[in-house]
Amino acid sequence: MRLLVTGGAGFIGSNFIHFILKEHQLWQVTNIDKLTYAGNLENLEDIKDNARYIFVKGDITNKELIDNLLSRGFDAIINFAAESHVDRSILDSSPFIDTNVKGTQVLLEGVRKHKVERFLQISTDEVYGSREVEKFTEESPLLPNSPYAASKASSDLLCRAYYSTYKLPIITTRCSNNYGPYQFPEKLIPLVITNALENRDIPVYGDGLNVRDWIYVEDHCRALDLVLQKGKPGEIYNVGANNEKTNLELIELILNIMDKPKNLMKFVSDRPGHDRRYAIDMTKIETEFGWKPITSFEDGISNTIKWYINNESWWQRIKSGDCVDYYQKVYSIR
Ligand code: NAD
Ligand code: TYD
Repeated sequence: MRLLVTGGAGFIGSNFIHFILKEHQLWQVTNIDKLTYAGNLENLEDIKDNARYIFVKGDITNKELIDNLLSRGFDAIINFAAESHVDRSILDSSPFIDTNVKGTQVLLEGVRKHKVERFLQISTDEVYGSREVEKFTEESPLLPNSPYAASKASSDLLCRAYYSTYKLPIITTRCSNNYGPYQFPEKLIPLVITNALENRDIPVYGDGLNVRDWIYVEDHCRALDLVLQKGKPGEIYNVGANNEKTNLELIELILNIMDKPKNLMKFVSDRPGHDRRYAIDMTKIETEFGWKPITSFEDGISNTIKWYINNESWWQRIKSGDCVDYYQKVYSIR
């Protein structure tokens, strides 16, 4: 199988490429990534000379480039490339529309022209908006609240339309919040771990009672591998972990494991449009494919903490660049 992975130098994409090369000894992966602030070739340093792996620096909104690339022949495209941070989308939504909407449209046109046999759109539970009770099923309405979520919902709708109109073999997955190695330290879990290691303040938005369902990235990659092989065109598959936690619970738990004081937490003003709760109903993928997350939160979070402790130079380089303390631009200490 010849895969084209977009955005493979980011967090989930790089974990996915590692996972696929390990699980499928005959598969080949080409990774196209623009290398934005979030893309980092160090994530793939260990496989850069692997004969089954090729890297192409490029932008998925570039029609000619995508056309050229697809003429090389691929069996499947897995579209991770995106602007992915809600706080950045609040400051400037433009790159979110460019990459997440326009970029997806360019890829879909490429699938149409080159008759690629499978297109996997990596989406998010954030397209469903916020639910205080009940969980999101694949039939839940799309009610995005952040510019990020709206741009992902837009690309999901394009996927739906290209399936309905052109019968393209498109499958969409919507996963909950991922955590694990190589996550850019502007997202909550790596931000908490790296700030705690440096004894720096940890901003808690609002009352800290917002709920997310946290999944270890390798479990997500395993779900994607299954959906890639067994998923039905036109279908949507939710992926989650039944592991809901409030931000306060999560931060306190991490500080406890790291033996750091709770007074590192600083309550700051709330994120505008802050979704109260995301909760995934993953009955469909469980019953159709027998998939379930296999990493307990205890194991996943302790692996992740160890990874950040052992890879300090990785995150120190990033933190000294275009990163973190976004809250200082958007949120004020209360
Ligand atoms: P990330 O920000 O870590 O990585 C995104 C990657 O895309 C980067 O390598 C970046 O350089 C690349 N990229 C950005 N614009 C590009 C463009 N125009 N052309 C080519 N490459 C471009 O994101 P992530 O957390 O790994 O998320 C990957 C995907 O999974 C995204 O589509 C996101 O919406 C989705 N998702 C993420 C989560 C999560 O918790 N992180 C949960 C569910 C779904
Ligand atoms: P984040 O990792 O940005 O993921 P998302 O908003 O896409 O779910 O944030 C997770 C939760 O943590 C969300 O409720 C916002 C909150 N949060 C903080 O309280 N402080 C922070 O510094 C960050 C980055 C997030």
